[in-house]
Amino acid sequence: MLEHKIAVIAGDGIGPEVIAEGVKVLNAVAEIDGGFSFDFTHYPWGCEYYLENGAMMPQDGMEQLAKADAVFLGAVGAPGVPDHISLWDLLLKIRKGFDQYVNLRPVKLLKGAPCPLADVAPEEINMTFVRENSEGEYAGSGSWLYKGKPNEVVIQDGVFSRVGCERIIRYAFEVAREQKRSLTSISKGNALNYSMVFWDQIFAEVSEEYPDVPTHSYLVDAASMFMVKDPKRFEVVVTSNLFGDILTDLGAAIAGGMGLAAGANLNPEKKFPSMFEPIHGSAPDIAGEQKANPLATVWSASQMLEFLGHKDWADRLIEIIEEILTEKCVLTPDLGGTAKTSDVGDEVVRKLKGV
Ligand code: NAD
Ligand code: IPM
Ligand code: MN
Repeated sequence: MLEHKIAVIAGDGIGPEVIAEGVKVLNAVAEIDGGFSFDFTHYPWGCEYYLENGAMMPQDGMEQLAKADAVFLGAVGAPGVPDHISLWDLLLKIRKGFDQYVNLRPVKLLKGAPCPLADVAPEEINMTFVRENSEGEYAGSGSWLYKGKPNEVVIQDGVFSRVGCERIIRYAFEVAREQKRSLTSISKGNALNYSMVFWDQIFAEVSEEYPDVPTHSYLVDAASMFMVKDPKRFEVVVTSNLFGDILTDLGAAIAGGMGLAAGANLNPEKKFPSMFEPIHGSAPDIAGEQKANPLATVWSASQMLEFLGHKDWADRLIEIIEEILTEKCVLTPDLGGTAKTSDVGDEVVRKLKGV
């Protein structure tokens, strides 16, 4: 029988709570299907591990993960450990080490999901964000000079390579062509006179290869405004690492909240495992209370199923999320309900089983 090897990093805060539901749902899918199974390996890496071992993962951590078909990650970050250490040594290490240069984040208002925007029809919020995920503002290059002295200076470089820009923009054009929708590039060439001018130039170059795909180009400040005022302008969107990070939290806010926002970190060439995770963080303000919404994690599980070749099950999970949102009987507090995290996972399984 087909077996998918999944490395599970539940991580910190609400990570373990939401991942437990994701694993529950994936196991139920495999059991009902009968044609494939999951072999989950759980890695106890994260901030507690760091406080005990002085590292976020063991030295051979990446080699251990490399054996998996995919990584399923909850969230990383806890108050006792500096964020730049916990994130750089675990989440960003995996994204970069496995060259997961595509971060695919749907910003879609599902049926029944709440939306804070006035005068916007639900179907008008339906975007696919293609966020550059390997370089740009997150290249990790820079320096800290004269630390602690009056003339202290820090420099954080943005690194935009031709290969890096071309591959993400080309990937986004392929998505737009497949979806038969427009592609919008979001940049900031008026102020970032090297990186974003280069980005815009490469977007124009690559667009020559895709005459069938309508294109638009926005500055990031105007794009933020239009995402709120007129979101239907955006269909497939390609943008840099930092802009994509910020705009997809904004996207989450207009499409049901952080509890519904999913993301896939893809190495399209499949040379390395890809990683699936909700886009929210460890939410220390609600951790350990069974208040976290696991539906973002279920949506990322759906992305994982599609990536592993089970499109029918991926679609079924989205339908079930919409049923749950529409019925409004089993919802966590962020969506106005009183259900526990595990109740929502149980409800997904109940619907999968049709009982
Ligand atoms: P956050 O996403 O953890 O939380 C922002 C707000 O959204 C909080 O009020 C939280 O309660 C709420 N929220 C988030 N997920 C929710 C869910 N599933 N259900 C209900 N409510 C939810 O962002 P933050 O507070 O800025 O960051 C907290 C920590 O997480 C920091 O250490 C940060 O670096 C880290 N972080 C990690 C990831 C990741 O691992 N992918 C992503 C973002 C932030
Ligand atoms: C996300 C997160 C990460 C990012 C952080 C935790 C490094 O905010 O996945 O959106 O900025 O990519
Ligand atoms: Mn983010």
